[in-house]
Amino acid sequence: MKIRLTALLLTGSMALQIAQAQTTAGTKVGKGLKDYYKNYFPIGVAVAPRHLQGDEGKFILQQFNSVTPENAMKMGPIHPQEDRYFWRDADSIVNFAQKHGLRVRGHNLCWHEQTPNWLFKDSTGKQVSKKLLLKRLHDHIFTVVNRYKGKIYAWDVVNEAIDDDPKNFLRNSLWYQICGEDFIVKAFEYAHEADPKAVLFYNDYNTERPEKTKRVYKLLKKLVDAKVPVQAVGLQAHWSLQEPSATELRNTIQKFASLGLKVQITELDVSIYPWEKERRPLRPGEKGELTPDLEQKQIAKYKEVFEVLRQYKRVITGVTFWNVSDRYTWLDEYPVRGRKNFPLLFDANLLPKKAYYEVINFKK
Ligand code: GLA
Repeated sequence: MKIRLTALLLTGSMALQIAQAQTTAGTKVGKGLKDYYKNYFPIGVAVAPRHLQGDEGKFILQQFNSVTPENAMKMGPIHPQEDRYFWRDADSIVNFAQKHGLRVRGHNLCWHEQTPNWLFKDSTGKQVSKKLLLKRLHDHIFTVVNRYKGKIYAWDVVNEAIDDDPKNFLRNSLWYQICGEDFIVKAFEYAHEADPKAVLFYNDYNTERPEKTKRVYKLLKKLVDAKVPVQAVGLQAHWSLQEPSATELRNTIQKFASLGLKVQITELDVSIYPWEKERRPLRPGEKGELTPDLEQKQIAKYKEVFEVLRQYKRVITGVTFWNVSDRYTWLDEYPVRGRKNFPLLFDANLLPKKAYYEVINFKK
């Protein structure tokens, strides 16, 4: 009713725009995050094909101008058998982006998790040789990057190669055990050869913890000094109410940018629980709730983080949220299965949370 009345009073496209804004699921504002940040950086979101339909699809178009496939391009899902690729999900995300003029970040080409079963074994069931593994990496990267050439502007080439133990440097993954450091160098070289125009990223988590900032810097410096084609670094930004501090975030951005690299926030969420790495069961009495106290802390953290990001707009070329809204977040399952989390800017009904208004409330 309200929409019809408004439309009567206005003419042409203006009425249409307002009607659309009011009927779009979730927020009643016509503008979305992407519009508020248009002079800063693109604002992206991690998606699965099911998010691109209906109300959620419209909502994504209202708020975001970049997408990252949450799982569809990881090696396990997209390359389940050595001679078979599964393109459907990745294609549908790229097609949606093309149709609506969104950017796409490719995620990811080389990671120790979500790998297909065949990858590290040869035809006799023994562990592959370095030569064969690098050939497989080459063929995988060439096939995937080529398919989306010109449609994907950036790739997370190597994901999480630094060890979790601060005493160690590189993670002792099968990639590392079989190839040593070469798998990192080769992954970047293959990706660059396959699409010289794509912006190539090293992507990792907890990058703002000072000890990890150092180790990531060490790796990046080695690559840059050796003229390996890496152009940018992704701070995954699976953050919490406790970390990072504004100073840690600033130091990290400055340190990586000092190598001449661009920086993106690639997987942003602000968990209401402290970081834990190991999976564990739900504890008795533990229930997921966004209490007023946690909500206030989350508002403050989002405000602080975006203030810093805006200050560094010259080096930051994108900010991507990891999932659309608190309706679904990977943190509902990880690390505690069944513990509800509320890490995003929109609630389960796609309505903006208070933190949203802090993020868009600045002098444009
Ligand atoms: C890492 C990966 C992402 C995703 C998250 C959990 O950060 O880079 O692809 O798997 O873990 O969703």
